[in-house]
Amino acid sequence: MKIFNVKKEIIENKKVSSNCYRMTFESKEIACRAKPGQFLHIRCTESYDPLLRRPISIHSLNGNVVGILYRVVGKGTNLLSEKISGEFLDVIGPLGNGFDYQLPVSLQLPILVGGGIGIAPLYFLVQRLVKQCSNVTVLIGADTKCNILCLNEFKKLDCKVKVSTDDGSSGISGTVVDLLKKELVPLNSKFKVFACGPVAMLKQINQLVSKYNVSSQVSLERQMACGVGACMGCTIKIKNQNAKIKMQKYKQVCKDGPVFDIKEVVWEDL
Ligand SMILES: Cc1cc2nc3c(=O)[nH]c(=O)nc-3n(C[C@H](O)[C@H](O)[C@H](O)COP(=O)(O)OP(=O)(O)OC[C@H]3O[C@@H](n4cnc5c(N)ncnc54)[C@H](O)[C@@H]3O)c2cc1C
Ligand code: FES
Repeated sequence: MKIFNVKKEIIENKKVSSNCYRMTFESKEIACRAKPGQFLHIRCTESYDPLLRRPISIHSLNGNVVGILYRVVGKGTNLLSEKISGEFLDVIGPLGNGFDYQLPVSLQLPILVGGGIGIAPLYFLVQRLVKQCSNVTVLIGADTKCNILCLNEFKKLDCKVKVSTDDGSSGISGTVVDLLKKELVPLNSKFKVFACGPVAMLKQINQLVSKYNVSSQVSLERQMACGVGACMGCTIKIKNQNAKIKMQKYKQVCKDGPVFDIKEVVWEDL
């Protein structure tokens, strides 16, 4: 897979909730090769503070216009939020493996579960999934109504959307895992879950889907330095499926992920 380092003019950088922004720029190089679940390694400033790039998922693709959706949590994302249209963005990508979303006919009930900013890569996935299947369900979880992300954007795509909020201000009162529990009953082997969000949410999903034996992929977040598998900074433990080999297995989230089969992750270690 070819990786590009491009400097592109920002088209828009718009605040979409109290602390989240959507940014777009045009890049034919990235658009031609990007797969849902892949990410970009973004230089947030022209100076060297912060020195390291920040990993942000590809959120949307419209023609050659690439979109990212990010939450301001620290120095890097704060600098990103200050960028205005016309400024240039230094981006490396597309990076990582992406979701395996080419569903066989026997697996035609994709359910996408996004907690908080975890919804970011799932929009691009829905853009692709609705082209191949008519039963896409999106479950969006947020703490409160004003932090629900992308609801109107998802409604414009050909998918079913459901919402949960921790405080009950919109949708069902509870977590997005409570919503998933409702969707997975009655048990149906056609389901395939795609999830992104906080580790605590992913751990609960792991417990749920292993009980129902539902095939699932999760997108993981680790702090990253190089973003290309060279520094080992994002290593996670992987289950050793081969009983003959006693050695512990490891993978890099940036190179082998960020998307993993839920069954291969050693959840106790995260
Ligand atoms: C593959 C991948 C895709 C991502 N996609 C998105 C996205 O689409 N939108 C988005 O808003 N964020 C995304 N993130 C998280 C984003 O990279 C971090 O929020 C960002 O790097 C924080 O940088 P900062 O300089 O603003 O904060 P820092 O000052 O570096 O950190 C602020 C706080 O955020 C925590 N943090 C920093 N980096 C990460 C990280 N990688 N994962 C989890 N916590 C972190 C730190 O521990 C600290 O508590 C993604 C992360 C990965 C690994
Ligand atoms: S960030 Fe360097 S190996 Fe993953």
